Amino acid sequence: MVRFENSLEFAKRKDREDVLSDIRERFSIQENVIYMDGNSLGLCSKDAKEALFHVIDLWEKHGIGIWDVEDSKYFLYQKVLGEKLAQLINAEADEVTVMTNTTINIHQGISTFYKPTPERYKILVDDLNFPTDRYAVDSQVRLKGYDPRDAVKVIPSPDGNLISEDAIIEGMTDDVALILLPSVLYRSAQLLDMERITAEAHKRGIIIGWDLCHSIGAIPHDFKKINPDFAVWCNYKYMSAGPGAIASFYINKKHFGMEPGLAGWHGNNKETQFKLLNDFDHELNAHGWQTGTQPLFSMAPLEGVLKIYHEVGMEKIRAKSLDITAYLMNLVDERLVKYGYSIGNPREDHKRGGHVCLVHEEAYRICKALKKHGVIPDYREPNVIRLAPVALYVSYENVYRLVEILEEIAINKEYENYSNTRTLVV
Ligand SMILES: Cc1ncc(COP(=O)(O)O)c(C=O)c1O
Repeated sequence: MVRFENSLEFAKRKDREDVLSDIRERFSIQENVIYMDGNSLGLCSKDAKEALFHVIDLWEKHGIGIWDVEDSKYFLYQKVLGEKLAQLINAEADEVTVMTNTTINIHQGISTFYKPTPERYKILVDDLNFPTDRYAVDSQVRLKGYDPRDAVKVIPSPDGNLISEDAIIEGMTDDVALILLPSVLYRSAQLLDMERITAEAHKRGIIIGWDLCHSIGAIPHDFKKINPDFAVWCNYKYMSAGPGAIASFYINKKHFGMEPGLAGWHGNNKETQFKLLNDFDHELNAHGWQTGTQPLFSMAPLEGVLKIYHEVGMEKIRAKSLDITAYLMNLVDERLVKYGYSIGNPREDHKRGGHVCLVHEEAYRICKALKKHGVIPDYREPNVIRLAPVALYVSYENVYRLVEILEEIAINKEYENYSNTRTLVV
């Protein structure tokens, strides 16, 4: 059976049949723009904007009283949001909190769990994760007096694109204390089997943390099954909570009694926080890992957009994401391979995330040409065009038109009009 057809009529029919098509209107989509970069920064929604303006209004009206209005909702905002986010990953309500950024939350997780001994002192990572994770790991190892060249065990990718789960598991030797891995690789969109890898780590008594930056909001996770020790993620990509939105931190309830590696007054038990005692009495749940005052303006848009996520449900989002990315790959195979384009992500549904990794030796200059055509892609070194047809706001017609533009750019060698000199933010 032919699943997809190579025609505009087919794309339009898919859009008419799309159960998420009404949700699109809630997002701010500029006219004549095809936005394929929701895996870097998700689009603004009416819901996110309203929630932010509501908090600004409250500040304007109440000044410091903002902490008390609506039954202290904003003093406890991290709990309100943590509970809503927990539903997306099937975690307990109090296992998730929101705070700072992903990088700091990695530091928080590692500084809590990394207790090296002379026998077990290594942190295992892969060599394709986003560099900030590695910077955090290396600096945590140094803080404990070790040399990252010895104490950070890097599982190399055989091809610079994908990582082998078997190699990760083989790397779990007796000297490994902790593992930090991405759920989905930021370049190749490879989705790792988190349940299998976590179970293997635990069999060997190794603590494991996951970076969900490229899966949260695109893929449903079942943390009751995966059962990791901790996890972190940002909310500005698929979650569309805004540039620099507050990030998330998950800690398994079995660890609630541990002392936070980085402690602060907002991690104190709420009943005694304002007694301002010198002895830290941390909350025995994820919120105990809070540090300073929560930034309400980076939190409010998340509350707004979470309404959309709860209305739609992660299952429908994943179903459309898998279908629309398969559609894009099918069009690439039919129309673009002959012009030097290829697919760099795994093809199997259970092994890929929410974006398509399109490879071309002229990827950088093609991205420049795409922008001229109103397409917002995302380039990653050395030859990857990342294309994220985000389920909530990208249409099949957008994808069809995108492929036509990629074809035009290649046929007319339009990329030759652009320089290969990298700009500050690529
Ligand atoms: C896998 C991964 N982790 C962490 C980050 C950075 O997170 P933050 O800027 O919130 O520290 C990114 C950013 O793209 C990422 O892709």
